[in-house]
Amino acid sequence: QKVDMELEAIEKGGFEHFMLKEIFEQPKSIKDCFRGRLIANNGQLVLGGIREYANALTNAERIVIVACGTSWHAGLVAEYIFEEFCRIPVEVEYASEFRYRNPIIREGDIVIAISQSGETADTLAAMELAKSKGAIVLGVCNVVGSSISRVSHEGVYTHAGPEIGVASTKAFTAQLTVLTMIALRVAHRKGTMAEQRYRSFLAELESIPAKVEKALKTDDQVKKIAALFKDSRNCLYLGRGYNFPVALEGALKLKEISYIHAEGYPAAEMKHGPIALIDEEMPVVVIATRDSSYDKIVSNIQEVKARKGKVIAIVSEGDSLIPGMVDHTIEVPGTHDALMPMVATIPLQLLSYHIAVMRNCNVDQPRNLAKSVTVE
Ligand code: G6P
Repeated sequence: QKVDMELEAIEKGGFEHFMLKEIFEQPKSIKDCFRGRLIANNGQLVLGGIREYANALTNAERIVIVACGTSWHAGLVAEYIFEEFCRIPVEVEYASEFRYRNPIIREGDIVIAISQSGETADTLAAMELAKSKGAIVLGVCNVVGSSISRVSHEGVYTHAGPEIGVASTKAFTAQLTVLTMIALRVAHRKGTMAEQRYRSFLAELESIPAKVEKALKTDDQVKKIAALFKDSRNCLYLGRGYNFPVALEGALKLKEISYIHAEGYPAAEMKHGPIALIDEEMPVVVIATRDSSYDKIVSNIQEVKARKGKVIAIVSEGDSLIPGMVDHTIEVPGTHDALMPMVATIPLQLLSYHIAVMRNCNVDQPRNLAKSVTVE
């Protein structure tokens, strides 16, 4: 047993938990995801995993994304990216709902299945159903040789390395990286993104690991904020546009490992329900980076503050407006709206991690949850 424990300590590489190690690995895991695929300065973006169906994907009339949990959140970000850059309609489905409702799938539709483990039973079944109806099924998996990767017609691995912590962190940012690369490739082939814009996007994408590295530097500050909110019973996460799925993912991370009830909402939907919950006891995490919905999110923050909610805002570096309005601000480097989820999600992972540790929760193996859900 002593040997086992020593082995585990080595595997954790000096970190107290696998989850923390995996959070800090993200600059590297995102780079690993680029390796051999992205060379921005000569406009190179090669996705060897999707060759035969590259044309079908480029000419697709619609794309359906199926996934569960955190992978489903990555799918939501991808929906926004594909629609904006490729002008292809996208639907994102919980695999468990999709498979049981006799979905409309036409011959040649593209179905993208996203899964860290590649073994999630509902996702696998959804793919098999789509395949039987003539869809082209592409996989975005982390585990090489997994069931989902084998059932896919083609696919792109995320290459984030083994993820041990049950709550997904580095696999999520790797999924976002791969899905962004696929979308950029399609947009470029299709001509929905001009050459110059495409080039500047590739360069911006290549700068993301350095920005994630910088976002990780918020760790000490996030830990202090965690200490203030560790005894909360509820927490609301708000975001708009590309940051809406980030809000969902932030809330999921908190509930998974700290057992605090948390909900993510598109900020504008707050007035249709959650606003009723806001009082001086309610922490509200707002992802308010400077993007096209900035002014709108600023008014949402005012709505929360008017009801005495405690606001923790994730803002872009140098923001001089929001810090004066809220209780706590966490600065992250700026990037294009579409790439912000990879950066903005970092302090939220850290926040849930520290809160869970302070509550003495089993961070790497939360109660009732499994790393891969092979039953329906
Ligand atoms: C479980 C895990 C989550 C994961 C989800 C989907 O619930 O605890 O972290 O997001 O399954 O798993 P997959 O392997 O398909 O991405």
